[in-house]
Amino acid sequence: MTIASKLPDVGTTIFTKMSALAAEKGAINLSQGFPDFRPDERLLTRASEALLNGNNQYSPMTGLPALRGAIAELIARHYGRDVSPVDEITVTSGASEAIFDAITALVHQGDEVILFDPAYDLYESAIILAGGVCRRVTLTAPDFRPDWQVFASLLTDKTRLVLINTPHNPTGSCWTTGDLELLWQAIKSRDIYVLSDEVYEFIHFGESAVSVHKHAKLSERSLVVSSFGKSFHLTGWKVGYVVAPTELMVELRKVHQYVTFCTATPLQQALAEHLEQAPESSAELAAFYQKKRDVLRNALADSRFTLLPCDGTYFQLLDYRDISDLDDVAFCEWLIDEVGVAAIPVSVFYQQAPKDQRLIRLCFAKEEETLIEAAQRLSRL
Ligand SMILES: Cc1ncc(COP(=O)(O)O)c(C=O)c1O
Repeated sequence: MTIASKLPDVGTTIFTKMSALAAEKGAINLSQGFPDFRPDERLLTRASEALLNGNNQYSPMTGLPALRGAIAELIARHYGRDVSPVDEITVTSGASEAIFDAITALVHQGDEVILFDPAYDLYESAIILAGGVCRRVTLTAPDFRPDWQVFASLLTDKTRLVLINTPHNPTGSCWTTGDLELLWQAIKSRDIYVLSDEVYEFIHFGESAVSVHKHAKLSERSLVVSSFGKSFHLTGWKVGYVVAPTELMVELRKVHQYVTFCTATPLQQALAEHLEQAPESSAELAAFYQKKRDVLRNALADSRFTLLPCDGTYFQLLDYRDISDLDDVAFCEWLIDEVGVAAIPVSVFYQQAPKDQRLIRLCFAKEEETLIEAAQRLSRL
């Protein structure tokens, strides 16, 4: 039997491959982006109580009212934006589902979608499955600033959606309010929507985070995606949410109701209670991760790697051109074998990576001892 694959170019992801190699060789795994420490114990207690004593049946399709209410309060507190918990917020099974729902709902056959490369790997596959065509603005080291002239040159009558991500995985770069304004100016007279992937919204160092929530005009055209997995160290819970104006949300919900209908009810219950009783959690996240970032950067300061700026996310990029001529995939395989540290080659996030780029990504959502041990190994090179 020959199956005509809808995604012929998709294989096992590099994350699965590097994590499997790290486990096989006993390497320190700084490749995949998830914490190796426990979440807030209060959340775990609330989740177990919700499982044992609470509602274990379907929640409403849009999410538990208590959770949507708590999300609306979080957005008002953090961004000063008023959103309706009834019409403008939907709880999804991770940010991934929200992104997939949004692309499926909005992109028609032949529509063009503009991405900024390097990009999170889910975007392209969702666009292809929807019959869309990817158009790319390439971001380059060391600061990965968007080139707005290139962006403008990609706009056509077929452009339907722009996908943005700040703070940015894998580069750790962040957009400015100026970038959001330039984006708005470029699309305002066209029939284009924005999907803003803000899963690292609370992990932002230095100035406060730039968000589409804070741009009144742009937010009227945008779907903004968040992830409790990133914000509460719970990547395995896969609970996220999307905020959008009613007209866009109506379309997104048509897809969401058939993809998952709803997300695990006891987990939603626990998150609703936690948001209400520990409202400070998200505001404390940046300082928590800044400490880890600095531990890793300080421990690598005397190494032969060049550390790129990291303004947000829990990813640090290293340039290894002074150490090796290998391409980044081969270098990461070599690192696992020879040094005992697993990293991610940055080229896998590009359709076409800049030719002489030599970058790897380390995840610092790890215990400090793990970061120091990994940095000591890398510093021996
Ligand atoms: C940029 C970006 N978007 C979306 C996601 C998916 O988030 P979730 O686990 O909530 O589905 C991730 C996870 O790594 C990510 O890095």
